[in-house]
Amino acid sequence: MDIARNPEMADAAPTPHEPPVIRREDYTPFPWILPEVRLRFDLGLEATRVVSTLTVARNAKADPSSTIRLNGDGLQLVSVSIDGEPVNTWSMDGDDLILPLSGDAHEVEIATEIDPGANSQLMGLYASNGMLCTQCEAEGFRRITFFPDRPDVLSTYSVRMEGEKAQFPILLCNGNKVEEGELEDGRHFAEWHDPWPKPSYLFALVAGDLVANSSTFTTMSGRDVELNVWVRDGDLPRTDHAMESLKKSMQWDEETFDREYDLDLYNIVAVSDFNMGAMENKGLNVFNTKYVLADPDTATDADFDAIEGVIAHEYFHNWSGNRVTCRDWFQLSLKEGFTVLRDQLFSQDMQGEAVKRIEDVRILRSAQFPEDSGPLAHPIRPDSYREISNFYTATVYNKGAEVIRMMRSMAGPEAFRAGTDLYFDRHDGEAATCEDFVRAIEDGAGLDLEQFRLWYSQAGTPKVEVAMRYEGETATLSLKQTVPPTPGQPAKHPMPIPLRIALFDRESGEHGGEQLIVLDTAEKELAFEGFAQAPVLSINRGFTAPVAIERTAPREDLVFLAARDDDSFARYEAMQELVVGHLVAALGGGLSDEEREVGQAAIAEAFGAILTDDTLDDSMRGELMMLPSQTYLMEQMLVADPGRIHAEREALKAWLGQHFHSTLETLHDRVSAVPYSLDGPARGARKVKTQALVYLAAGDPESAAERAWEQFDGADNMTDRQGALMVLAGLEGALRTNALLDFYNRYKGNDLVIDKWFTLQAWSTHPQAIEHVKALAKHPDFTLRNPNRVRSLYMAFAGNPHAFHQADGEGYRMLADLILSLDPINPQTAARFVPALGRWRRIEPHRAALMRAELERIAAAENLSRDTYEQVTRSLG
Ligand code: PHE
Ligand code: ZN
Repeated sequence: MDIARNPEMADAAPTPHEPPVIRREDYTPFPWILPEVRLRFDLGLEATRVVSTLTVARNAKADPSSTIRLNGDGLQLVSVSIDGEPVNTWSMDGDDLILPLSGDAHEVEIATEIDPGANSQLMGLYASNGMLCTQCEAEGFRRITFFPDRPDVLSTYSVRMEGEKAQFPILLCNGNKVEEGELEDGRHFAEWHDPWPKPSYLFALVAGDLVANSSTFTTMSGRDVELNVWVRDGDLPRTDHAMESLKKSMQWDEETFDREYDLDLYNIVAVSDFNMGAMENKGLNVFNTKYVLADPDTATDADFDAIEGVIAHEYFHNWSGNRVTCRDWFQLSLKEGFTVLRDQLFSQDMQGEAVKRIEDVRILRSAQFPEDSGPLAHPIRPDSYREISNFYTATVYNKGAEVIRMMRSMAGPEAFRAGTDLYFDRHDGEAATCEDFVRAIEDGAGLDLEQFRLWYSQAGTPKVEVAMRYEGETATLSLKQTVPPTPGQPAKHPMPIPLRIALFDRESGEHGGEQLIVLDTAEKELAFEGFAQAPVLSINRGFTAPVAIERTAPREDLVFLAARDDDSFARYEAMQELVVGHLVAALGGGLSDEEREVGQAAIAEAFGAILTDDTLDDSMRGELMMLPSQTYLMEQMLVADPGRIHAEREALKAWLGQHFHSTLETLHDRVSAVPYSLDGPARGARKVKTQALVYLAAGDPESAAERAWEQFDGADNMTDRQGALMVLAGLEGALRTNALLDFYNRYKGNDLVIDKWFTLQAWSTHPQAIEHVKALAKHPDFTLRNPNRVRSLYMAFAGNPHAFHQADGEGYRMLADLILSLDPINPQTAARFVPALGRWRRIEPHRAALMRAELERIAAAENLSRDTYEQVTRSLG
């Protein structure tokens, strides 16, 4: 009997028009517990048979029920038996299977069949390059077998996999391999057992022709753990960095959080078709190839860092996510926010705290602030959703990490560790809530977090207005916070906002020590005595709170801080503020020629100091040289004109390029002489190299083209080559064409590098970028079936202000077309493009109307997925 709703049959089973809203307040425990799960897989690319045997018992902590609801999605049911007897007393409720259960304990056996080859959503069991793999978070396990697919049902899993040996020589699953052997007709099997109870979203299997980079890690208690990074045959030479990153992560989590690994085996598998970055399945992480494969010829320094960070993130989930998991998906930030904080702290220790902090703040501002100020704003612990996949957001992840970081700043690292120790101790083996986490930190670290809990329930980026008065040797700091209204939350309460501050003496350039103040009321005044003249205020040092500071600091104070603040973040921030202030004023239209010159001169003073300060390492110099992103600038305006912002920003770049022409050339020459290596100074040199080139190209495109070509042609690594190609891609002429052709031919067949080739063109400042995107969409290497490829072209395009926001709305139309054609294939990835159009309220009226019209066109389409439906209706609402 066919109850399937597989993608091929989308027409036969239309999506209900209004997918139901799931609410946090409606949580109830599942009426049954399922201590043990046995699964048998008969693997085939086109047909896989799954037999699942569940031990089921009444949950004493829940209301009794005479039925059990097992979630399903697109499954073909073959048979059901209860306590060994085949039954036909089951019924279907939508895609769910309902079985009558009269006693207190039963054994349920269910056989289903699935077609992994037809699974283009990449959720559940699917085929990728001839291998089979799974993705179950958040609700993919129900596409494999009928099961209570919710994170508070924990079971131990025993799995038998069978398949053709030639096709699937390697058979992997969670936990430890307990048996393997040969079968008839060229088939073989493997049996796996995972001793740690886990929710279904952490289940994984992989079957295919893979090779491993293998090594060993000895844990702090002296146990040897076998480590494998599994890839396709030719990719083995590019796995060493991933392996090193894994070992460093294991070591760091022991030293920093006292967390030891708990199995004898840790497998990582790289797959090229994957919706997200990576997945923390117990003992069997599945990774996007992008976050595994690297060597100097094909990966940039940023790629190396991202791999280290993602490997660490997934490894850290073994405790924050797997040993302690989530009660329901509203608690997603419990595991994600905490794990992002853990991976950020790890990367700070590996790569240097100052630069890493600036990078993380840049990500927060360009990805999370726009979310918080737009139609999709939600608290880090959402109250409702229609499709949970839409809530794997920068808010849940990155703001979630910032919220926990604030607790750490207020407690201090040691007391915070006492809090996390208590949390792991109290909740090991449980499905916990954000509230459990907060209470453990309160009890363990000795903090009062009563009011702080508001950070979990209120959306929106708080604004803090800052002013300083100086009178009779006393500096008075006055602070005022407002939390802006967001959808469903018109009025907000003041929240505790921890701010590290310092007051600098203008003459000596010193300050008398920093302090942490907590703004926990709507307004507050603080007096500081003993200043012979007005001090210079440095505030939110280290970005202690994820807020927007608004201050009317005199320009010379910002120049002062940009040149000498001893907190690197604050120094970066002063530079950003200087530029933002200037550009916002210019865009307001009110700058006289003279005012423009004064503004530019102040920026030039700070920029010049950054270029030539030899106490700065190059890595920090490279950070400080970057102008605020277009997205961040758009955030500064109630209603933005993307075309004008782009033009003003480019003009400032060009002006700086001209003004500092010879300094930048000298700088570029100096860093170009540094030989390639992966150590800090050499990496810093490469960062500065491309930054210098960017300004030189803006200032004098013709002479810079030659320089960029030299950097491109002479490069012995991807960082320099990609940096130069990025610059060339924005210029006109033969060097551009030659470089793009040369790059393509050199890396043809290497998907991850060809992704870069798509991205560089789609993201380029070239005036015809939009035409290039159209042509690239027809390129033989382009496909809607591979998420990395789709994103390489269209995410880059959606993030390219001058192309995407072309005044006639062509960019909006192209993105809407993409969403409509991708939705039936891969709804999860399709829905991720909606927010780019959802920003319409903050864009000037002409473009806003065009954006809205495209959202309406999408909303009117039939059979829209739950994912896209939810994002589009929220964006219009
Ligand atoms: N849980 C994964 C992570 O953050 C992300 C993910 C979510 C991957 C959903 C796949 C699907 O580490
Ligand atoms: Zn995660």
